[in-house]
Amino acid sequence: MPLVALELVARDSLAASAFAGLVVAFGDATLDADARALDRKAKGALARVVASDDWAKLKGGEGITLAWPGGLVAKSVLLVKLSRKADAAAAMKAGALIAKALGADGACVLAGAVKHLPALVEGIALRAYRFGYHTDDKPGFGPVTVQAAEPEAAKAACAEGLARAEAVHFTRDLTNEPANILTTTEFARRIEEMRALGLEVEVLDEAQLEALGMRALLAVGQGSESPSKVAVMQWKGAEGAPLALVGKGVVFDTGGISIKPASGMEEMVMDMGGAGVVAGVMRLLAARKAKAHVVGLVGLVENMPDGKAQRPGDVVRSMKGDTIEVINTDAEGRLVLADVMWYAQERFKPAAMIDLATLTGAIMVALGYENTGVFSNDDALCDALLSAAKSTGEGAWRMPLGPAYDKLIKSRVADMKNTGGRWGGAITAAQFLQRFVKDETPWIHLDIAGTAFPVEETAFAPKGASGWGVRTLDALIRARFEG
Ligand code: BES
Ligand code: MN
Ligand code: ZN
Repeated sequence: MPLVALELVARDSLAASAFAGLVVAFGDATLDADARALDRKAKGALARVVASDDWAKLKGGEGITLAWPGGLVAKSVLLVKLSRKADAAAAMKAGALIAKALGADGACVLAGAVKHLPALVEGIALRAYRFGYHTDDKPGFGPVTVQAAEPEAAKAACAEGLARAEAVHFTRDLTNEPANILTTTEFARRIEEMRALGLEVEVLDEAQLEALGMRALLAVGQGSESPSKVAVMQWKGAEGAPLALVGKGVVFDTGGISIKPASGMEEMVMDMGGAGVVAGVMRLLAARKAKAHVVGLVGLVENMPDGKAQRPGDVVRSMKGDTIEVINTDAEGRLVLADVMWYAQERFKPAAMIDLATLTGAIMVALGYENTGVFSNDDALCDALLSAAKSTGEGAWRMPLGPAYDKLIKSRVADMKNTGGRWGGAITAAQFLQRFVKDETPWIHLDIAGTAFPVEETAFAPKGASGWGVRTLDALIRARFEG
């Protein structure tokens, strides 16, 4: 679905009182100037809201809806509490509230006095998202007209937030898409389409991956009809060593021969969420012409049981050369990442590397849906990531690494095994990945198994894919990798 149609126009109280859809006004202890003009037409209905106890109890960014207000043409008026002193986060929350109330007949937002207008607009665009194939579908979102004090300046100031929202929606679409539609081939095609934005894109096929020695990745995909692929995206907005982003792109994870239980297996359409975020970030960098050098690599495979599928007990050789005993074919993500991460370092000698993966159920046990698990070998880089996450409001929590966990992935027959048992499962997975990180590479592993696809809707996304990480990585790139 394209981004909601959103237009910034000059203040116009006549247009507001004649608008037939949702009208949005703002106030705090009192109504702001635009809301007062509307209130006069509505015969004081808005002023009564602001004088009520209910209003007093609201937090910034929350609101009260009036249905069919007398004196106006509007179906409803949403009065949002937002003080002059409210920060950008409150304005963004208010934007999400507006998007949730948005229907087919659109909205007229009286934002002439709103201080953090770009944040408000970004919040609207982020939350105005829908995904599905219902044939009796309700009509989509109507256009949103935002009245601003200086519409021309506001247009320029809001452009980046809208680009961010567009990239987040791109990631959500990929992550929500069922696996009969988003095959490895279709995923690669959607990435190749981004050449039109100026990204350099290559797609490596199975023969090329074989020649490179990526046996760990290929072993995961060998039970599927969909061919395994690695897509490489490059955005060269600056000179020097790049930041490498690496994504797990398992388009569907049945578990393979170590098959998952039927209940809930359908959720595994989201097991390419890490690759979805990498593709979304690359899209955003190109859209905003970032002055940064970033490469994005995704391993696209499908984990299926089949006559050709890998078995528990198989030993595979990674591109690095290390051998891996496959104890459980459902611990496939780390096999994919091991090879793509090694390839990323060999080819690009990156200044830093960040991988994203819906890697373990164990991280969901530890952190729920609220925080991504952050693992790193570099405190400064990790701190920068955590403050970027703080600035975007996306949850992130650092987890430990350490040699003491290594004994859990020792194998009798190979250099390591691909599972470490029940306890500390997210950590042993990260510890496994670290075997494929060179000592000189500052690295962060983000386990997004919980955050990529929360059970319930969140502030900025309906139920389903969240797009967690697109905004945080963009903020990190601005703060640390952009001149
Ligand atoms: N894709 C799953 C992890 C996952 C689980 C993501 C739930 C999102 C929601 C991963 O490939 C997996 O199956 N991990 C196993 C590893 C185990 C076999 C060591 C797990 O977490 O159970
Ligand atoms: Mn699995
Ligand atoms: Zn998986």
